[in-house]
Amino acid sequence: MTGIYNLIGPALRCLDPEMAHGLALRALRCGIVPARHVPRDPMLAVRLWGLDFPNPVGLAAGFDKDADVPDAMLGQGFGFVEVGSITPLPQPGNARPRLFRLPGDGAIINRMGFNNKGAEAARRQLVKRGGRPGIVGVNLGKNKETQDAASDYAKGIKLLAPYASYIVVNVSSPNTPGLRTLQGREPLQVLMRTVRSALDEVVPTNTPPLLLKIAPDLSDEDKTDIAEVILSCGVDGLIATNTTIDRPEGLTGHERTQTGGLSGKPVFDLSTRVLADMYRLCDGKIPIIGVGGIYDAETAYAKIRAGATLVQLYSALVYQGTGLVEQIVRGLAERLRADGFSSISEVVGIDHR
Ligand SMILES: Cc1cc2nc3c(=O)[nH]c(=O)nc-3n(C[C@H](O)[C@H](O)[C@H](O)COP(=O)(O)O)c2cc1C
Repeated sequence: MTGIYNLIGPALRCLDPEMAHGLALRALRCGIVPARHVPRDPMLAVRLWGLDFPNPVGLAAGFDKDADVPDAMLGQGFGFVEVGSITPLPQPGNARPRLFRLPGDGAIINRMGFNNKGAEAARRQLVKRGGRPGIVGVNLGKNKETQDAASDYAKGIKLLAPYASYIVVNVSSPNTPGLRTLQGREPLQVLMRTVRSALDEVVPTNTPPLLLKIAPDLSDEDKTDIAEVILSCGVDGLIATNTTIDRPEGLTGHERTQTGGLSGKPVFDLSTRVLADMYRLCDGKIPIIGVGGIYDAETAYAKIRAGATLVQLYSALVYQGTGLVEQIVRGLAERLRADGFSSISEVVGIDHR
């Protein structure tokens, strides 16, 4: 079935990108976007962190910053949805325009700057959805003006962890000054220890898994340091990666020189390399969600082969609509069968073996 999101997609792409996003969110909130029946295929089911993912394809953070439409997006066939980034206090983000399409490149540049309604508002949304089925992860950020970053993440945990299937500490958005320096060895160690104990205190039983989301712009030394911290500070998983501040050669879009994070097709290689490096540095012991430049089943499959247990996407939705989810889910099953595998777990990291 062709969903309304796909029908109105071309019209949305004629509008200012942020206005189009607002309209898509409104349509999803109103319930006028029909759900898609993406058949469940046992081959694609993933059991991880005590959670049962019906398929490995998730919605990346940034689409639903205020946890307004997680169920509507689960209804589009995603195996899980990540809301946020959410900061303790509401904040407006950067001045507009701050979201740019590079259609010929299949890319987006954004410098949103964690615009969101704050943790209290997100909590109300998550409380409202109650115990509905479906995996909804919560991605946490820090307010622009906060000096003590760890205290902001701890506040986010206090308000939101009880309603989260998993928690993400996002230290990799390029649009909050100083945020990425938290990926350095010492600051990351302090941060992850603080956050770990906050999470264990707030949700002592059935504690949601704790994930760290990293940038694609990391040196070899950065990656080694991050792996060491992850393995020693009780981090349960990694999300690789966020957007890049790099501008790979060959970009054609008029907006390619805009300041901000680049996502979509041009980030795929860089982001998959970081994913593969982290898989190797962590000896495959830490499950990784692979994100960055996925736009079809082939690119999703490549992430899994490089070491991802789950994948996420965002930018490709802007160009292809939510029908893409079913296409990727079906395509993944076809590839598994063609290669003689019976489950996703058999393929995770296979390129390293
Ligand atoms: C407009 C926009 C806003 C985003 N906001 C966030 C955010 O708030 N937090 C976050 O962790 N990632 C955010 N991201 C990054 C995505 O979650 C994802 O890591 C990145 O876009 C790479 O995936 P993609 O190529 O499939 O888009 C945002 C991306 C875009 C395009």
